Amino acid sequence: MDESLTAPQFIGYVIEAEQQAKALLGSSNASIDELRIKLFGNKSEFSRLTKKIRDVIPSDRQQAGIVLNEVKRKIEKQLNDSSSVKRQASNKEFFDVTAPGIPPPVGHLHIVTQAIMEITRIFERIGFTRVRHPEVDWDWYPFESLNMPPNHPARDEWETFFIGLSDKQGQIVLTPHTSNGQVREMEKGKLPIRMINIAKCYRRQSDVSHVPMFHQFEGMYIDKGVTIGDLTGVFNFFVKNYYGPDRKIRLRPFHFQFTEPSFEVDINCGICLGKGCKLCKEGWLELGGAGMVHPVVLKNGGIDPDVYNGFAFGWGVERAYMMKSGTKLDDIRMLYGNDVRFLKQF
Ligand code: DAH
Repeated sequence: MDESLTAPQFIGYVIEAEQQAKALLGSSNASIDELRIKLFGNKSEFSRLTKKIRDVIPSDRQQAGIVLNEVKRKIEKQLNDSSSVKRQASNKEFFDVTAPGIPPPVGHLHIVTQAIMEITRIFERIGFTRVRHPEVDWDWYPFESLNMPPNHPARDEWETFFIGLSDKQGQIVLTPHTSNGQVREMEKGKLPIRMINIAKCYRRQSDVSHVPMFHQFEGMYIDKGVTIGDLTGVFNFFVKNYYGPDRKIRLRPFHFQFTEPSFEVDINCGICLGKGCKLCKEGWLELGGAGMVHPVVLKNGGIDPDVYNGFAFGWGVERAYMMKSGTKLDDIRMLYGNDVRFLKQF
């Protein structure tokens, strides 16, 4: 170190460096990063001058340092300005932070979920409450409690998945219908009952109108002096609210072990309104089963059938949804294919 430079001498070098830097900024096509290295990197003139401050006589050193820093700051600013100009010139690199963003795609509830919510809301308006009961249950609840003892031939209708487990309460099944909720709801011990039990059901079946897992909604009303008139009133309320004012129901005599009398409920076709057309053939579409709850079922639920009675019904959610006019859904499997192009439409 030979502390021999004076401030004016050092500033002379600084001015020279500044002119070189400006010339470089004005003429070079190099990228911003390359320029930054050339101007301020380890081997740059400015970095050499920074080390050279040691050679300035101590009394002049501060002034020399101030001038060097000022010049470096000026050049750095020019470099930054020119870099933003360059970026604006090339569209690829230009990023306008004030431009509105690209909204991420937003999904929506699955059609079946939408249907479940709509059905729930309609029944809530006439005092029904949505309840949940197990979807894996002892066969007592979907069968025996509903007047279908083990090996009863009526059980065949419910092509049941047995999961191969049993204990002293019986075999364990995937519930083939939501009717397992009937006695379970009665066991809560609260009367009157106005429940709507919506759940997944499982059956060994698969074709255009059947899938192994589907949904049912099971309604049950238990009180004193319930009549078939109450049943038709509730069904008509549902059908007019869910399908529209032109739709109506009819009851066909049927047989279920757990209702007496039993019915199948049809609604008039949404296209021909009951006259008969290509879709419905006879003017009516089958919605599902219903009936007045059998006294044996009430007893199994701890309710005295001499005092209380009621009605129940169990209908498929997917089926009910597909019967809405305008749905144009003719293959139930579409609902579970998870093809977003299909689901997006709803
Ligand atoms: N659980 C029956 C089925 O899956 C439908 C049904 C019929 C439910 C009559 C009921 C009823 O509550 O009363 O086919």
